[in-house]
Amino acid sequence: MDTVRLGKTNLEVSVAGLGCGGHSRLGQTHGATEAESIAVVQRALDLGINLIDTARAYGTEEIVGKAIKGRRHDVVLSTKALLDTEDSLTASLDKSLKRLGTDYVDVFFLHGVTLDQYQRIGPDCIAELLALRDAGKLRHLAISERFADDAGHAMLPIALADACWDVVMVGFSILNPSARTRVFPITTEQDVAVLVMFAVRKALSSPDELHKVLASVAHREDALDFLVDIVDAAYRFARHEPGTDVVLTGTGNVAHLESNVESINRRPLSGAYLARLETLFRNVDTLTGN
Ligand SMILES: NC(=O)c1ccc[n+]([C@@H]2O[C@H](COP(=O)([O-])OP(=O)(O)OC[C@H]3O[C@@H](n4cnc5c(N)ncnc54)[C@H](OP(=O)(O)O)[C@@H]3O)[C@@H](O)[C@H]2O)c1
Repeated sequence: MDTVRLGKTNLEVSVAGLGCGGHSRLGQTHGATEAESIAVVQRALDLGINLIDTARAYGTEEIVGKAIKGRRHDVVLSTKALLDTEDSLTASLDKSLKRLGTDYVDVFFLHGVTLDQYQRIGPDCIAELLALRDAGKLRHLAISERFADDAGHAMLPIALADACWDVVMVGFSILNPSARTRVFPITTEQDVAVLVMFAVRKALSSPDELHKVLASVAHREDALDFLVDIVDAAYRFARHEPGTDVVLTGTGNVAHLESNVESINRRPLSGAYLARLETLFRNVDTLTGN
């Protein structure tokens, strides 16, 4: 497993991170048992993944807590809190810590923040997060965008102007590389770490969905057939983009996990393939592949 410095946090993490949300939620969405989902997390650790991303909203924190019991200090653990809920950030984090069976998280995200939310309550959130950091309940401040509704990254550049974030989570994929010009120059300049979400998601993991998307954007259903193994290409594309640090992979399937980890550790796509992708998708800032 290749590792990387996680920006200004200075943590050393695996280039593949385990995402415990997304459509799969460690297989919970498709009826996996708790034991099966725990086995996915433990296999990820055995493969050398040391960054695990969950969230209160995913309903997988307890599973993660059980899976990492006895190995907490080998793991860089992140969780998240939604804004505009009954709970304060403090109350939400306290509940997450209890479910995770730990007394701190390494990275704590404001979850899926819209531009409107950030402009309304961002500054208040920062003060509360700093107090939680002082209290030792979180180590690093982080924010994720609501990519499904903000595929052109309106929120993150505004948030990054406050220069208080250690880590961001960004939607980035073959189908929508717009973070390359709108987000990564800022994060690189500030040494803010980037976790990639939506590298594969739905369209890139399902041929029927992909064909629909390609018919609408590239006017040719077979526009990506040259890649042969689309999932492999999609993870390698995200991994080797300058400005990305960790690529999240979300699955309830151990065989998928193993092959995704291999892909994320493979060499970059060829220059010829990257040039073809650039021609097809360089101006796309509305697709999410969700
Ligand atoms: N705003 C936010 O904060 C936010 C939003 C979205 C996601 N996230 C985070 O990002 C993580 C990554 O999630 P993602 O959903 O964006 O994308 P992803 O992990 O790249 O894609 C996951 C989807 O593709 C399927 N899949 C995975 N590997 C496959 C393979 N080798 N072959 C075929 N299908 C495969 C999975 O289903 P199977 O179970 O069948 O493998 C799952 O439905 C999430 O888990 C979460 O931690 C955060």
